[in-house]
Amino acid sequence: MLKRRALFHFLGATALMATGVGHAKTVAVKPFRHYPFDPVDAENFLQKLFIPLGSGPFGVLDVAGPLTMRATAASFSLLPGKPSPFLLYPEQSGKAYQNPILRMENGANLKVTLRNELAEPTIIHWHGLHTPAKMDGHPASTIAPGQSFEYDFKLRNRGGTYWYHTHAHNLTAKQAYNGLASFFLVEDEDQRRLAQSVDLKLGETDLPLVIQDKQFDGQGRLHYQPNGQEAMMGWLGDIVLANLTPNAYQTVAPRTYRLRILNGSNARIYRLAFLKGKERLSYTVIGTDGGLIERPQSTTEAFIAPGERLDILFDAGQAKAGASVFLKSLPFDPMENEGDAGSMPGMGESTSRLDMGAEFNILKLVVGEGARVELKLPAELSHIAPIPLAGATKRNIKLSLQGMNFLINGRTFKMDEIAFDVKRGSREVWSISNPKLGMPHPIHLHGFSFQVIERLNSPKQIAGLAKFDKGRTVSDLGWKDTVLVWPGETVRVAIDFSHDLPGDQTYMVHCHNLEHEDAGMMINYRVIG
Ligand code: C2O
Ligand code: CU
Ligand code: CU
Repeated sequence: MLKRRALFHFLGATALMATGVGHAKTVAVKPFRHYPFDPVDAENFLQKLFIPLGSGPFGVLDVAGPLTMRATAASFSLLPGKPSPFLLYPEQSGKAYQNPILRMENGANLKVTLRNELAEPTIIHWHGLHTPAKMDGHPASTIAPGQSFEYDFKLRNRGGTYWYHTHAHNLTAKQAYNGLASFFLVEDEDQRRLAQSVDLKLGETDLPLVIQDKQFDGQGRLHYQPNGQEAMMGWLGDIVLANLTPNAYQTVAPRTYRLRILNGSNARIYRLAFLKGKERLSYTVIGTDGGLIERPQSTTEAFIAPGERLDILFDAGQAKAGASVFLKSLPFDPMENEGDAGSMPGMGESTSRLDMGAEFNILKLVVGEGARVELKLPAELSHIAPIPLAGATKRNIKLSLQGMNFLINGRTFKMDEIAFDVKRGSREVWSISNPKLGMPHPIHLHGFSFQVIERLNSPKQIAGLAKFDKGRTVSDLGWKDTVLVWPGETVRVAIDFSHDLPGDQTYMVHCHNLEHEDAGMMINYRVIG
């Protein structure tokens, strides 16, 4: 049974029937509470995009010494002129930052004191970074109000676009939604070579772009109150923020821009495309979760699930001066087919006015005057050695639905339970399989990056994007830490569990739909030997 409320405004009745997962309920369209921010309407894109630079919110902080980051309750105007309670990580190292974009060189040491000034427990997790387990922000490391946590570890990551966010036990979804997340940029030779050859400058032509969907109450305050249905399927917003700006626009020169796109949403999946009117423009994928891929890949669309990053180049010179180009999410089949579990009485319906799979705008780019700058992209961006598969241990990671809970290998999260051990230095191939009955899950690994080697039994909308061998899409290339697994699909990933950390290390595997994570779609695994 298709459970999410059907908005005929976004998806025609025929499109819904064509999903073939049952009959759609006809529900009256709810009025849009903050009409000027309805992202479906292109006319609404009137707020200047917030561009991270210097100090202040999302200022770029080149880490040169120890930092003290506080987790604190604050006020922030997401909707213009409407202050909302918000959670922030202020940092004061000379300049004052909130949720700084941390930037560091691979191999450097990160020293952070986290001070919990919230009224509830919290902890920071460094998403995508290979850290000792003790430094990983495991929910077992959660600190009480008033307490501090000392992070101290060496960066062991390729250059790329990573991020950090709260991982408080059972509170991740709410705290991340309310603000506790930002970027972590790692620099290396590959990154510098790219920046030089395409003439990129962070904050000018190289723009971190976090996409998040939120709900707001009548006063314009951030709203988060999942009912049973939303706790089970994931919370959706109906106002779409790019760098915390609702319905943002940005004027661009007729040249190539780098957008480091992070899906920082709790549950929403986006199908990203650039459109000039009805015409799709091409863009170039240059990186994924764990840094640059080997060669630039031209595309007109790509999926991005919560937790994933897509590093792209977009040539705004494709459009003429004065033209508007929209970064959009194209319509897709949400494939939410949770069977009887989702139709239990008292579960409620999704309260978002924007259904999963709806078509809407994210960011408007207005092409400015000036001579077109044509930049030649390097043919090679990086070298990625494939993980040798011979002799690798095979392991099944089975996602399932039991009652109203999504499980991994039949388990729901228990803090002290280790689901399995892997041997230090071993290589494994995991077959992550998702049953037909259920929904898509972005599966995330702590501690190590992996390589996607194959997609099997992909649904049509993914099979159609499989431009690479073994059913892989452009979002699967390079080094990954999060991979979207659609209903009925099996995704095979290769992991090399070699590291230089002494002793046993306990990390986790979980769904990055944050409501699923908090509901326990998460297991511990341990690297031993
Ligand atoms: Cu970004 Cu354990 O998560
Ligand atoms: Cu993570
Ligand atoms: Cu999930």
